[in-house]
Amino acid sequence: MKFFADTADLNDIRELAAMGLLDGVTTNPSLVAKSGGDFKQTIAEICKIVDGPVSAEVVAMDVDGMLAEGRHLAKIASNVTIKVPMTWDGLKACRALTSEGTMVNVTLCFNANQALLAAKAGATFISPFIGRLDDIGLDGMDLIEEIREIYDNYDFETQILAASIRTVNHVKQSALAGADVATVPPATLKALVKHPLTDKGLEAFAADWAKTGQKIL
Ligand code: E4P
Repeated sequence: MKFFADTADLNDIRELAAMGLLDGVTTNPSLVAKSGGDFKQTIAEICKIVDGPVSAEVVAMDVDGMLAEGRHLAKIASNVTIKVPMTWDGLKACRALTSEGTMVNVTLCFNANQALLAAKAGATFISPFIGRLDDIGLDGMDLIEEIREIYDNYDFETQILAASIRTVNHVKQSALAGADVATVPPATLKALVKHPLTDKGLEAFAADWAKTGQKIL
């Protein structure tokens, strides 16, 4: 499973990329607002750090507006992926942009039929929002499993990009369910390394090492 960072924070992206952990980045208008930076400059900076797909979301609601914004953003770098919403106009924009050779991420997917439509429209990525489904008492992971089954049934090439990930369990469950990509907030990505027995074991090793009175360097 590929890891994308779900953030527009350049410092986090630099750190994760330097560790070889990043296969791409996703942003959305809320994350851009949180970062406080200029949208297009931020996308350009991220594309200098990360070779993989970098999602930049259009804000127009109509197909012509989405296409104009998407084509403009796609000029920033060859790895810019245009994020369009799961709407009728978004699907039209998806088909047009992918036909022009631009990667497209269809976002705000909340059911399997929407994912089927996105694949038919030629989406590069479909973004099912796990956390937001959990928020309303549904099981977001069921959706990943359903989309995996449908895409495998018909050999769709659209990649399942598990989004709205909130917990380390979401990451594990996405991998088990066969998501192609998980886009993960940096804090959650960093939390994947944690286990209390690792910390306890490290403390015991450090204490025993101190008893030897030796140094390595
Ligand atoms: C990424 O592509 C999505 O926009 C993001 O994962 C949404 O996450 P949220 O539901 O935590 O805002």
